[in-house]
Amino acid sequence: MTDRKLRSRAWFNNPDNQEMTALYLERYLNYGLTREELQSGKPIIGIAQTGSDLSPCNRHHIELAKRVRDGVVSSGGTVMEIPVHPIQETGKRPTASLDRNLAYLSLVESLYGYPIDAVVLMIGCDKTTPALLMAASTVNIPAIALSVGPMLNGWFRGERTGSGTIVWKARELLAAGEIDDDGFMELVASSAPSTGFCNTMGTATTMNSLAEALGMQLPGSAAIPAPYRERGQMAYETGKRIVQMVDEDLRPTDIMTREAFENAIVVNSAIGGSTNAPIHLKAIASHLGVPLSNDDWQTHGHKVPLIVNLQPAGEYLGEDYHRAGGLPAVVGELMAANMLPHPGAKTVNGRSIGENCGERRSENPDVIRTVAEPLKRDAGFINLKGNLFDSAIMKTSVISKEFQDRYLSNPDDPNAFEGRAVVFDSIEDYHKRIDDESLAIDEYCVLIMRGAGPIGYPGGAEVVNMRPPAYLLRKGIHSLPCVGDGRQSGTSGSPSILNASPEAAAGGGLGLVQTGDRVRIDLTKCTADMLVDAAELDKRRAALPERPYSPESQSPWQEIFREKTEQFAEGMVLRGATEYRDIARKMG
Ligand code: FES
Ligand code: MG
Repeated sequence: MTDRKLRSRAWFNNPDNQEMTALYLERYLNYGLTREELQSGKPIIGIAQTGSDLSPCNRHHIELAKRVRDGVVSSGGTVMEIPVHPIQETGKRPTASLDRNLAYLSLVESLYGYPIDAVVLMIGCDKTTPALLMAASTVNIPAIALSVGPMLNGWFRGERTGSGTIVWKARELLAAGEIDDDGFMELVASSAPSTGFCNTMGTATTMNSLAEALGMQLPGSAAIPAPYRERGQMAYETGKRIVQMVDEDLRPTDIMTREAFENAIVVNSAIGGSTNAPIHLKAIASHLGVPLSNDDWQTHGHKVPLIVNLQPAGEYLGEDYHRAGGLPAVVGELMAANMLPHPGAKTVNGRSIGENCGERRSENPDVIRTVAEPLKRDAGFINLKGNLFDSAIMKTSVISKEFQDRYLSNPDDPNAFEGRAVVFDSIEDYHKRIDDESLAIDEYCVLIMRGAGPIGYPGGAEVVNMRPPAYLLRKGIHSLPCVGDGRQSGTSGSPSILNASPEAAAGGGLGLVQTGDRVRIDLTKCTADMLVDAAELDKRRAALPERPYSPESQSPWQEIFREKTEQFAEGMVLRGATEYRDIARKMG
């Protein structure tokens, strides 16, 4: 084993610098490690720990790390657990997404700056997954991901209650007097009955599924619920496997290739994945040097059907997804219909995704359908462009019948609509004014949200799906076309045009539109424009302040982030960070 070329030897076994070796060694011996564990050629495996009291979604990783450790040791490795900056989606203000890049940066420093030969990425809650994959991509040491797994299904009076989505129903019941305040809390809490991440197809289930589709997890790892015995067993297998990956020198750049990303885009449509996925996949790809753009989502993903019947688009929850076969069954069904573009893409177990999943089929056709009988056809995203923005994502499959009839059924102008813009400069502005009747919002208005992108609301807020004013709701108008430079929760099913890049705060066209302008959206040509002439737009642009739509930062990191962040279409990565690639191999 001593002939392994381990980077940790530069710390613990460097014959050219015995003094430093002694200094490194004595401090890692001081808690009980032995020289045998550090100097006999055992790889040092980092466990990038995202679980903590601050991060309830990932907290079970504290337990799972013990099983990972057992697996590593049984295969002849030594473990060092690495604390990762916490990111709890529902706990961090102003946004958890602000901290994705902070966790990324700190993990890069930990992996690069310490004697780590390979790493197990403990993923789960929304932003933890991209943050860890981004860091592993930059450093490019052998890496394998382990999901914490979804929570058990939530139940209330015999019905499934899913994270996030139950809140809408609870509000209705409260308004109708069917439950009181305590009942409201109880109902919402029923959706979170155990450790684990959101049990709906929100951003967490999406990103954990995509981490498996990219090849970075062992087959089946994404969907096993956190408390199930199989989860602990998967943790053990993951620990065993990472040691072998060191011997095979199997690195993130060998697995997350352009082909793997195309597979992931197709899988995202099939599972009904979150509109946050294009941002995070772009970020991971950028740190690997793999070209990827929002156009790829339309080209490779738009025509793919939705086959996973999970809330919010469908009925079921995480346990059902796992029991129906999880991600391997989804990939197997896609392959049966010849829809997985690259079955030969390699995964962390050394086999291709096709070898892992080709024979797998749905074990419950209610939960995972066949491609021949999907829940929806053309379930992916389209990428819109125009003078409002260079790029924005729309999930056309969630367009309701009501919406289709009202906006898209004009025989002279099919699949397109024009409306009067009603513009909100911030989330606060929207809440203050949405029910103000003097705005005269009617069913032919387009609601526009700006100041909600990476710079305007540090990290970007999930606010683009705006409800119509109360007086329209009472008339039975449940949704209006919404356009914005913010994001939308993965647990929401609105047909918004979102993630607009560049955002208003970065000089994008959304910063120039005014209430009363006509806006035209064409879903065939994939365009979105304000019908305002160029001279007028120039005038408006000249009148903008130096830093428009950007309230003051509240912390040093917010300010640094805003100075350095790229836009959503570029993955919201830190400017310049993507120039540092493959650093473990380059720098030793
Ligand atoms: Fe953590 Fe949904 S809030 S996964
Ligand atoms: Mg979310």
